[in-house]
Amino acid sequence: MQTELSTTLGVEHAVFGFTPFPAVAAAISRAGGFGVLGAVRYTAPDDLARDLDWIDAHVGGLPYGLDVVMPAAKVEGVGETDAEAMIPAGHRQFVQDTLAKYGVPELPAGEAAGWRITGWMEQVARRQLDVAFGHPIALLANALGSPPADVVARAHEQGVLVAALAGSARHARKHRDAGIDVVVAQGYEAGGHTGEIASMVLTPEVVEEVHPLPVLAAGGIGSGQQVAAALALGAQGVWLGSVWLTTTEADLHSPALTRKLLAATSSDTVRSRALTGKPARQLRTDWTDAWDDPDGPGTLPMPLQGLLVADAVSRIQRYEVEPLLGTPVGQIVGRMTTERSVREVFDDLTRGFERAVDRLNRVAGRSGR
Ligand SMILES: Cc1cc2nc3c(=O)[nH]c(=O)nc-3n(C[C@H](O)[C@H](O)[C@H](O)COP(=O)(O)O)c2cc1C
Repeated sequence: MQTELSTTLGVEHAVFGFTPFPAVAAAISRAGGFGVLGAVRYTAPDDLARDLDWIDAHVGGLPYGLDVVMPAAKVEGVGETDAEAMIPAGHRQFVQDTLAKYGVPELPAGEAAGWRITGWMEQVARRQLDVAFGHPIALLANALGSPPADVVARAHEQGVLVAALAGSARHARKHRDAGIDVVVAQGYEAGGHTGEIASMVLTPEVVEEVHPLPVLAAGGIGSGQQVAAALALGAQGVWLGSVWLTTTEADLHSPALTRKLLAATSSDTVRSRALTGKPARQLRTDWTDAWDDPDGPGTLPMPLQGLLVADAVSRIQRYEVEPLLGTPVGQIVGRMTTERSVREVFDDLTRGFERAVDRLNRVAGRSGR
């Protein structure tokens, strides 16, 4: 599974893996793909530095990348404290009432909320970048828009490729105009923040829009056959996020959540604003239903919703309150039915890819390999 982009980056397979877990990122690169660590949960730069040091020590010199979340549309000059003050009392009450309804205990005294994703606030993301540029990252990806021009320039000065996620051809064009090197075309099926266009339609649209820039196809990919389909649509590789959540290297801290993921079907996700204030695909739970209920207070815009629910989500996760317990994940969750190591995922991907290519060769009347 080699393309011009995988050759440029010096990886065996054009399979890029987004993950919040350093052990998974390192395992993806060791398996011949390109691991990308998600930074959004790192509020403290020292924690990110520690985990990037860990990756450096475990990746054997192979390339890896970092993903930050710098929203193109941001509330200028609004810090976390100001944002907290903008949250209406009625919304705070709704959180408390919902937690009380399900008997979710408080966090023990002195235990901070672990699920505090402030990384999309520009001042936090910039501190993450200062750390990241001190490590040998080969690619910097940004969700939710093109990164600011000075960040692109700084990456290029350091020889780091810049990637950005796009949910439409219009987004992709903006990325190209902002000097981005790689566009990740992320379809509606994907886990996390998504647009409304399915990968089958989006990938070729983006490929055509930004030609000759390389495009990675994201959303709904979990098998080698799907990798082959993405490459057939003109992508120079694939970008997978959900499939790593049930790998043995992933550290979800919740056996109940892993069980839920393994049992979920492709119908069990929803695109909801419940977690962050922007539409993000995730497991459908009583929590997402409460926020999506037209009789409820509705969600707040980013970044307020994320700040509003941070403590609640930590409590739900800590006590594994099953009806409310969820995570961002895409529709491919329906094919994630067993725990596998990252290496096993790669073995399955390469075998499936070869089968798909053989089949297409037969369909085209050519003999297989
Ligand atoms: C748990 C989870 C968290 C995610 N968080 C981010 C993120 O912080 N930044 C980002 O660029 N993409 C994020 N994504 C989206 C992935 O980068 C990727 O585009 C997506 O998972 C691909 O579709 P798939 O889920 O069908 O594989 C997340 C996805 C998942 C499943």
